[in-house]
Amino acid sequence: SRLTPFVDPLPVPDVLRPKAGVALRIAMRESTQRLHRDLPPTRLWTYGNTMPGPTIEARSGEAVQVEWANSLPSRHFLPIDHHVCGAEADKPEVRGVVHVHGARVPAADDGYPMDWLVPGQARRQTYPNRQDAATLWYHDHTMGIERLNLYAGLFGMYLLRDEHELSLGLPHGDHELPLVLTDRLLTEDGQLYYPVSGVSDSPWVPEVFGNVMLVNGTLMPRLDVQPRRYRFRVLNAANGRFFRLSLHGQKPFMQIGSDQGLLAAPVRQVNLFLAPGERADLVIDFADMGGTAIELMSDALPLMQFKVAAGQVDDTSRVPAVLRDVPRVAETSATHTRVLTIDEYADCVAEPMLMLLDGKHWHDPVSEKPRLGSTEIWSFLNLTSDTHPIHLHLVRFQILDRRPFDTDQYLASKTIRYTGPAQPPAPHEAGWKDTAQVYPGMVTRYIITFEGYTGRYVWHCHLLEHASNEMMRPFEVVA
Ligand code: C2O
Ligand code: CU
Repeated sequence: SRLTPFVDPLPVPDVLRPKAGVALRIAMRESTQRLHRDLPPTRLWTYGNTMPGPTIEARSGEAVQVEWANSLPSRHFLPIDHHVCGAEADKPEVRGVVHVHGARVPAADDGYPMDWLVPGQARRQTYPNRQDAATLWYHDHTMGIERLNLYAGLFGMYLLRDEHELSLGLPHGDHELPLVLTDRLLTEDGQLYYPVSGVSDSPWVPEVFGNVMLVNGTLMPRLDVQPRRYRFRVLNAANGRFFRLSLHGQKPFMQIGSDQGLLAAPVRQVNLFLAPGERADLVIDFADMGGTAIELMSDALPLMQFKVAAGQVDDTSRVPAVLRDVPRVAETSATHTRVLTIDEYADCVAEPMLMLLDGKHWHDPVSEKPRLGSTEIWSFLNLTSDTHPIHLHLVRFQILDRRPFDTDQYLASKTIRYTGPAQPPAPHEAGWKDTAQVYPGMVTRYIITFEGYTGRYVWHCHLLEHASNEMMRPFEVVA
């Protein structure tokens, strides 16, 4: 783009540290923000007043209450498709409901897609935080329009800390920052453009890719750093873009955590492929880069620049060789295996394309009813030609393996013929996850213990255009 790179400082969202017994109040509101020094202010919908919204910081075991208020205008500014399930013309145009992605929360507080608030309404949601430290995030989850609401700016970070993690000596304070990655299509005058299909009354499109990339809501920002270690909580909050992250010149970095907290041990990376919804906890050591600058890239495109101060500093932070115990969940502990297809229907007359989970629509009866406390294997057969990041609410899981199979044979006879060996997850995917990449032509197996609460939750693809058009299903944890 013509815009000068690395002139805006990286913004760091405000941090909210709730006090026990005192609810935070966060309003969804329209706002404007300059995405780059040389652009006019962009109209956004935000939590608080910024995109990303404020970072909520909580401690494991200490409950947090948030009163979420919908203070948005009464008209949407992005194109609603009333043919999409849950966005029919009889629904209010502007709706919002907040889900904390990766949080173990009672069903009533989880932000079920139908539990939306209209402007003027508010709801208090309680987050018990009875889980390990992790890089969580919150975002809109409104049935039929979440893709538009997130695109408008409704997302933020939620960091959960615990004693164990705090004892490790990782970089913290000024040396720990969130990096929230998104992309957007901007018009000439710097406003959000959400693409539409060619069908006039059915604007839904299957994917959105931006012409600009934003880090913490800013186009190609710069971060001034000291020549020492920093910890970055990286989140892919884009609607559809996967980021292939690297440092310029293939300089290595450390990955210490994924979606649901620390890995067993740090993993040295030069490239990291992050799907929408996934998080990576990284440590970059700038110690030998004093007086230089280095870009964080996505493929060949710069996302931001780190400008390293000259000289040397005393860095007392550490990255221990052992981060925590991540016991592998034994396959034999599973009492149930579900085979679930990921399908694409391209030849439908009514819709240009429809993607379903296990051939079922949102409104079909609930078919996945795991027992509270039980362990199951969910085996996803991806019959499409794309990777879908599949996410389950409430739980954390481990990836057992991925194995190539003959999709044509499966479509013809519903039998699985493997065409190669099972591949265990790479080390950086071998920790606790809540969203994982389900590759095309592969069977991807998650092993999941349904801990926490009974009730109705959802699982879905985290490509938001897919999720808001039927690639989402309820599941119910039963007693
Ligand atoms: Cu990131 Cu159902 O959510
Ligand atoms: Cu998908």
